[in-house]
Amino acid sequence: MQIKIAKKAAAEEAAKLVRTGMTVGLGTGSTAYYAIIRLGEMVRNEGLIINAVATSEESDKLAREQGIPMVPFSEVQQIDIDIDGADEADASLRLIKGGGGALLREKIIAAASDQMIVIADDAKLVNTLGKFPLPVEIIPFAHELTMHKLRELGGAPVIRHKQDKVFITDNGNFIADCYFEEIQDPETLNIHLNSIPGVVENGLFIGLATTLIIGNDKGEVRIIHR
Ligand code: A5P
Repeated sequence: MQIKIAKKAAAEEAAKLVRTGMTVGLGTGSTAYYAIIRLGEMVRNEGLIINAVATSEESDKLAREQGIPMVPFSEVQQIDIDIDGADEADASLRLIKGGGGALLREKIIAAASDQMIVIADDAKLVNTLGKFPLPVEIIPFAHELTMHKLRELGGAPVIRHKQDKVFITDNGNFIADCYFEEIQDPETLNIHLNSIPGVVENGLFIGLATTLIIGNDKGEVRIIHR
């Protein structure tokens, strides 16, 4: 319950930054959920006029149900504001994302956005990234070789399963959850991971987040700018 209050507070603070005329990126996960719900209310009841793109099929469906106008990517050149959650964030606004498996679309949308607003409960703020297993999206073809390369980087990778089946991303790929425990140099690891053939993208978001909104169990928020 408490954690819901924290997530909702952060999400609703982020929704205040959305203005009529904006194209909005909608994130994925239990915190982004509250932002989509709030934006839906603003569209239906408060005269907000926006277009949106979603980072997952799940968020796309939720947004449509809430009455948020969704536009195809072919019609989008640039996104004004992206609101998304994170699994971990440090004070430099470096993130681990992909706990929900949507990291590839999340990164594409974050990189196309003027502002990336990250919303999270205060448990997500860490000194060093890596306790949360880093999700890496990999191509199913020859994934054993890719897993071997990930192991060489020290990530102790495990193919993600959901209900006893291999988890398949919205893009038809696998997720390797990599247990680094402590990532001392996220910038270098990001480069090494994305140099492995078979890796599509990894969940380190560096230089993308512009603002971090952290909620607590009292419903208070703290805002950190990059
Ligand atoms: C989805 O793939 C993720 O990147 C989420 O944004 C992240 O896992 C945070 O999710 P919660 O808001 O549910 O904690």
